[in-house]
Amino acid sequence: MKMPPGDRKLSALDRKIAAALRPPHPFLEPFSRRVPADGGKRRRGELILILGRLFGVPRARVVPAAAAVEIIHLASLIHDDVVDGAELRRDLPTLDRLQGAAPALLYGDLLFSRGISMVNRLRVPELTDLLLATVAEICAGEILETRERGSFSRDEETYLEIIRLKTASLFEYCCRAPAILAGFSPERMRVLKRLGRNLGLAYQIADDCLDFAPGPDRSGKKPLADLRNGVPNLVLVYAARDPRIAGELARGSPPPARLEKISRLVREGGCLEEARRRGEEFAEKSRRAAREVIKWPLAGDVSGLVRYFGLDPEH
Ligand code: FPP
Ligand code: MG
Repeated sequence: MKMPPGDRKLSALDRKIAAALRPPHPFLEPFSRRVPADGGKRRRGELILILGRLFGVPRARVVPAAAAVEIIHLASLIHDDVVDGAELRRDLPTLDRLQGAAPALLYGDLLFSRGISMVNRLRVPELTDLLLATVAEICAGEILETRERGSFSRDEETYLEIIRLKTASLFEYCCRAPAILAGFSPERMRVLKRLGRNLGLAYQIADDCLDFAPGPDRSGKKPLADLRNGVPNLVLVYAARDPRIAGELARGSPPPARLEKISRLVREGGCLEEARRRGEEFAEKSRRAAREVIKWPLAGDVSGLVRYFGLDPEH
């Protein structure tokens, strides 16, 4: 159940994030108020906490690693909203709309540096190096996405490369970071990388589908935002194969009057279901990797991972 922010008891992860968001100067208070410590779903940080507990990593090391990932994710969303020209994030005006693009980008940089220094303080060079390499991948993915913007007829392979870089790379990090802290073998690392990658691909495709899904639940974002902005989205990659829809998409970024027509054609053409099925294939691959992990002899209990992936505890 979603609780109003005031009623929610802050977890250790939220408290760590709140400490990192504390403004170093009073004039930054409106910025940190816009990105509250208990505002997001924490899917990435939660994954680090669950795996860290399962691998027997001390909590004092896992919580900063999880908080750092959430802070870097927040920084990347602030940048992303500027890149996308987005109006809403988590049901509220974006920092870009409230403060302007340049201050928003610079505040994103500030958060980025805080996230990196939090991991750096764990004094595990491999962990910091991997995080920096991951951020480079995220940025490369965003560059590729902006270059592909507006070309709705891109192939699925390019689309998957974009989302592997911009989204799945951070999920991969979340699965590998606790394993680095636990000193795991390269063989286990490979399984965890596969777990994170497929989870991240499934997650991004589900996010793409939300853009077209009927009903109010779209994680606080405006409907059809990807269609409006020409942003790569798997539903649109499939839609562009239908000549009726391709004709509409070829006419460039659609004005509001054409948005609903395209969205109806997309739904009637079964593109949303097709994208959901593709996302489910990646989700199933990630569950398969998770089932491998829970068979390893490990320090902690598997209930967190079973819950996170919705696995059947008997298998
Ligand atoms: C959301 O994707 C955005 C990302 C997954 C990454 C954004 C990264 C950057 C802009 C690079 C800057 C990075 C740092 C660390 C400073 P989306 O647009 O598909 O999702 P949305 O629907 O939530 O906007
Ligand atoms: Mg976006």
